[in-house]
Parts: sequence; structure tokens; C-alpha cells
Amino acid sequence: MAKAKTQFVCQNCGTVHTRWAGKCDGCGEWNTIIEDDPLGGIGGGPGKTPKKGRAVALTTLSGETEEAPRVQTGISELDRVTGGGFVRGSAVLVGGDPGIGKSTLLMQAAAALSRRGHRIIYVSGEEAVAQVRLRAQRLGAASTDVLLAAETNVEDILATLAEGKRPDLVIIDSIQTLWSDIVDSAPGTVTQVRTGVQAMIRFAKQTGAAMVLVGHVTKEGQIAGPRVVEHMVDAVLYFEGDRGHHYRILRTVKNRFGPTDEIGVFEMSDKGLREVTNPSELFLGERNTKAPGAAVFAGMEGTRPVLVEVQALVAPTSLGTARRAVVGWDGSRLAMILAVLEAHCGVRLGQHDVYLNVAGGYRISEPAADVAVAAALVSSLASTPLPVDSVFFGEVSLSGAVRPVSQTAQRLKEAEKLGFARATLPASSAELPKGRKGLTEIEGLPDLVVQIAGSARKFGKQTDED
Ligand code: TYD
Ligand code: MG
Repeated sequence: MAKAKTQFVCQNCGTVHTRWAGKCDGCGEWNTIIEDDPLGGIGGGPGKTPKKGRAVALTTLSGETEEAPRVQTGISELDRVTGGGFVRGSAVLVGGDPGIGKSTLLMQAAAALSRRGHRIIYVSGEEAVAQVRLRAQRLGAASTDVLLAAETNVEDILATLAEGKRPDLVIIDSIQTLWSDIVDSAPGTVTQVRTGVQAMIRFAKQTGAAMVLVGHVTKEGQIAGPRVVEHMVDAVLYFEGDRGHHYRILRTVKNRFGPTDEIGVFEMSDKGLREVTNPSELFLGERNTKAPGAAVFAGMEGTRPVLVEVQALVAPTSLGTARRAVVGWDGSRLAMILAVLEAHCGVRLGQHDVYLNVAGGYRISEPAADVAVAAALVSSLASTPLPVDSVFFGEVSLSGAVRPVSQTAQRLKEAEKLGFARATLPASSAELPKGRKGLTEIEGLPDLVVQIAGSARKFGKQTDED
């Protein structure tokens, strides 16, 4: 057997290096590489001569299949994100920043499942039994039959789970605290986390229990983040939100048993997380309808329409280089919209600072928000408030054309439901509801500028100067 060489593993992305370096080539992070024992866990080299393989039976793609059996929590925001409930025998990773509310959410889910007669085991590696009990009391979950253990050793956890009746769902909080006897590295390293997660997934597959794994997202790279196990689990959910705001979003990133791009919206309270069944009302809650620079975007999150306010502030700059600051949207996408406004619409913004903010700390990833962003920018520059009852959507191309986007009908339906009678949308959009009034179809961004500012002359002052 060859002598085991030490290897160096990036704790952020799992890239293996032959020698230590300050910066990882794989992900570009600094100070994330540590020495690791290659013989332990997944990815450890062959310890012995490999055994002779056994042939498995090959099969066809068609044949008997069953609908994945699920355990539903009854918390509809959570069930939607998982695609209809946790799937038995599968592993789900719930990632998020420390303190965002993962343990709270899962304790509430555990209590809800337990009330429905499921056997739930909650293994806490971070908090002592007394702390978890206190939380359960605060959440009104103390009287349920959720079984609790405070343990971090993988072998002990597996032995505990194997005892008694098979659990329907197991929660491991968190994977970063797991450590196994068979691996030499310290808890929290890539090897330990992978070995622990692998063992938990194997337990889920063998027994048919649903496994929920909690993973902290780390920026410092001192402990391995959830990314190193994302490919091993069946579904990945991220719990996110802005610390300054009181609502949280659970987002599907990967799901082998359901759709991705779904979101569940929750509101934080002293009694735990409350479901928000109509997120648009939350994001539009504190609207100042008379101020210029605010446009309502009719967006989609998976199957669900969400209305959000896009706010822009355009002001003459006092610096040599104009500032561009974005919160909740992509900075390079903003640069593109600004360039299109300059090149095709005669809207000069080079001497203006531009601030863009998506209300409520929400994040938009859809290109369909382009038109709403442009509307907010033009409205702010022209000091003209947009109509109170109007929504905007459409994707902008570099030529200045406005392209149709998907699910037009659903966007318009949600807007109408919340009292937005008018909409500015791409021309030649498919599935337009017949006889619907108040629709302004635009071919290109210049149409939008004319619609808002009356004519491009309103920007003449800037144009004349250069
Ligand atoms: P916690 O669930 O412990 O976060 P995580 O497991 O992601 O690290 O929640 C962090 C803190 O926030 C904790 O002190 C409880 C508090 N909290 C509430 O008071 N209400 C809520 O609805 C949530 C989600 C959290
Ligand atoms: Mg926690």
C-alpha cells in the first residue's frame, strides 16, 4: 500500500490541493485551505486491494413507479417549498446564515408533524437540551411528542436512531457539529461534514425516514459550508432574509422531487415564524404612492406571483465619478439598463448618482424587472411620480427592445387582485386576457420614457450640456 500523503482541502468548495496556499484556485476564497487526512471518509484513497465487482441487473426507463411518499407539515409555505411535503427516504439540506431562524423553523415543523401523529427526532448538536426546551416552550411546541437528543457523534446518533420504532423524520441541527470516530480531522472540516452527512443519508435511504440537515453558511471559511454537501442531498433549501427586516424567505435551490424556484414567506414574531400567505401585501405595505422614483414590479417566484416596489433615486453627482449603488438587484444589470437609456433613449445619467433599492430587503433575480427598474429611474430623473395603480414588467435587450416574459396572465391577475388596474408590459405578449383594460404595450424602452416623461424633451437640459 502506498504511503498516505497528506492533502490540503479548501473548506469552502472542497477543492483538493497538493500543498498549502493562501488562496484557493477553485473558488478564490482566502485562508480556507487546511491540511486533511486523505484516508478518512469520502474521497479517501483505496485502503485495500479492491474487491471483485458484482454485476447489477440493468433495467429500462419505463416500468412501475410510485409517487414519492411524503410527510406533510400542514405549514403550507413550507410544504410548497418542499414540493408537497418531505419525501420519505430523502435528505434535505436547510442552509442559511447563523441566527436567521433555521432552528426555529424546524422546531415548528417538528411540532406540526408530531401533532399529526408522526414520530419525529430532533438531534441538536449546538444547543443543550435545556435551551431547546426553552425554545420549544416559546413556540408552543413543548407539549408535543417530538423526541429530543443533544448529541454530535455520528455513531452515537445512528445507534440512537436505530433504537425503537423507525422515525418518520429526523432533524440534525447542524451538520457542522457532526463528528465521526472513523475520521481523524476536527469537527467542522470538509471530511468530517461529508462523512457525517453521508452516514445520515445512508440511514434515510435504508429506513425510509426523511432526513433534514441544517447547515450554516459561513463566510470566514473556518468551518465547511453547506456547499460541500449540496450535491449529496436530494433537495437544498435556503432560508434567507435581511437582519433589519422581520420577514424570512425559504427558497428551493435544488429539488429532485419537485420544482425549484419556489419560495415560502414567513414573518418573525416572539412566538416564532408566522406564514405570510400573500407576500405582495407585505412588500408593498409601506408604500408612499406620491413620491417619484417608485415603480411596482409584477414578478414571479416559481408558480407564485409577487408584487414588489422598486425604488430609484437619481441625483446630480458631486463627485468626479458618479456613484451607482444597488440593493436587492444585480449591479451589472443596472449598468446595462443605464447604458440602454443613454444610447437609445437620450437619457443622460453620466453626471448623476444612481441609487436603486428593492423595498423590504427583498431580492429580485428575474430579468423581467428591467422595465420596472427603467421606469423607476426615469420617474426619479423627471421628478414625475408614476401612476399609483400601475405595474411594470418586461425584459430589456441591448438594442432597447422590450421582450415578452413568461406567465403574463398570472402577473396581471395578481396585480388586479391587489388593485393595480393598469400595467405597462411588452408588446406582443402571449396569453393576454381578452377585454382587459388599462394595458400599455411597449415595443421598446423609448416608448416607456415618452410614456412617463411626456417626451424626451424633459431631459433636454442634460442633453444640451454636452
Ligand atoms: P435561530 O432559530 O436560533 O437561528 P439559527 O438556527 O438559524 O441560528 O433563531 C435566532 C434567534 O432569533 C433566536 O434567538 C430566536 C429568534 N427568533 C425569534 O424570536 N422569532 C422568530 O420568529 C425567529 C425565526 C427567530
Ligand atoms: Mg440553530
